Amino acid sequence: MNLKVLILPGDGIGAEVTREAVRVLQTVARKFNHDLTLTEGLLGGVAIHKTGTPLPEETSKLALEADATLMGAVGLPEFDNAPPAQRPERGLLGIRKILGVFANLRPVRTYAALIDSSPLKNALVEGTDMIIVRELTGGIYYGTPRGISGEGDEERAVNTMAYTRAEIVRVTRMAFNLARARRRKVTSVDKSNVLENSQLWRRVVCEVAPEFPDVQLDHLLVDNAAMQLVLNPRRFDVLLTENMFGDILSDEGAVLAGSIGMLPSASIGDRKPSGAWVGLYEPVHGSAPDIAGQNKANPLGAIGSAAALLEYSFGLKREADAVSAAMEKVLNSGNVTADLRPKGTPATTEQVGQAVCAAIE
Ligand code: IPM
Ligand code: MG
Repeated sequence: MNLKVLILPGDGIGAEVTREAVRVLQTVARKFNHDLTLTEGLLGGVAIHKTGTPLPEETSKLALEADATLMGAVGLPEFDNAPPAQRPERGLLGIRKILGVFANLRPVRTYAALIDSSPLKNALVEGTDMIIVRELTGGIYYGTPRGISGEGDEERAVNTMAYTRAEIVRVTRMAFNLARARRRKVTSVDKSNVLENSQLWRRVVCEVAPEFPDVQLDHLLVDNAAMQLVLNPRRFDVLLTENMFGDILSDEGAVLAGSIGMLPSASIGDRKPSGAWVGLYEPVHGSAPDIAGQNKANPLGAIGSAAALLEYSFGLKREADAVSAAMEKVLNSGNVTADLRPKGTPATTEQVGQAVCAAIE
C-alpha cells in the first residue's frame, strides 16, 4: 500500500516526538512492505516565525493532498500575550476545521507496567479502559461573535458556544459506533442544568440513541463527570462530549494513564471515497517548551498516534497492533522516559523510539 503522510512537527517537543513516530512508521513500512511517502509542513509557532501565520496556505494544501497527517504539538510561551488569531494554537484549530475532523478520539487506558506511575491509588485506576470522544470542530473554540471590545471598566470579552443539530448528530453516531466495538456504553457529558447549548446536546444525543438499541446511554453533568473520572474511572466506556469539556476532561483522563505523555489521539472526519477516514493524528500533550530540545520527552503519545493513523486512515489493523504490542513491550522493560518515573535512569526520547522499532522488527 502507498501511504502518503504529512508530518507537522510544530513547536517545542513536537519535533522530537514526531521524529520517533516517523521512525516507527518507517519501520512498519519496511517490515510490512508498504511505500511510505512523507512530506513535511509548518504549523504553529514555527510557521509564524517562518511565514508570519500559524497555518500557511501551503500547509493546508499539503494536508488536503495527504492521506493522513501526523502532528506534534503547537504553542510557545513567546506568544502568550498575542491575540488568539495570532497564536500558534489558531493554526491547529484551523487545520482541524479545514480537514473537517469533527471527532477527536482519545483512548485512556492503564497499562499494567505503569500502574505505579499514576498518582492515584492502584486499585482505583487498574482496569481503566475508556475512549473520550471529543467534538472537535464546533463549540466555543470556533463560535462567533467573539472578541474583546470597549475600554476601562467597560472592557468586555465575548465567546460563543454554538452547536447545530447536525454537528451533534454526526459525533454522536461516531461515539455509538465505537461503543459497539467495545463494552457498548456511552456516557454523554454536558452542562444541561445551565446551558441551552447542552440542552440541545442532550436532546439530540437522546434522539440518536435509539438507532443503537444494543448500546446503553447515560448522561453526566460535566462537573460530576470530572469527579467520577478520578473516583470511578472504570465506569466509563465511551465518554462523549463537546469540544471544551472534552479538552479539559481528557487532560484529567491522562492522569489515569500515568502520564499525559502516553496519550495518543485520532481526529477523524468523513470517509473518503476509498473508505479510509480523513485523519489528523496528534498526541494529547502540549509542546512542553520547558523540556524541549533535551531528548527527555515521552514519544509514546506520538507513537500511539502513528498506530491510530495506520488503523483508521489506512485500515492497517495488523500493523497498528504490532506498534501497540511493541509499545507495551517497551513499557514492560522499564526503559521509559522520566515522566513515567522509572526505577533506574530514565531513557531518552530517542532510546524509547528505537526500542519500539526494535520490538516491531
Ligand atoms: C488539545 C490542545 C489544543 C486544544 C490546543 C493546543 C489548541 O489543548 O489538543 O487538547 O485545545 O484542542
Ligand atoms: Mg488540551
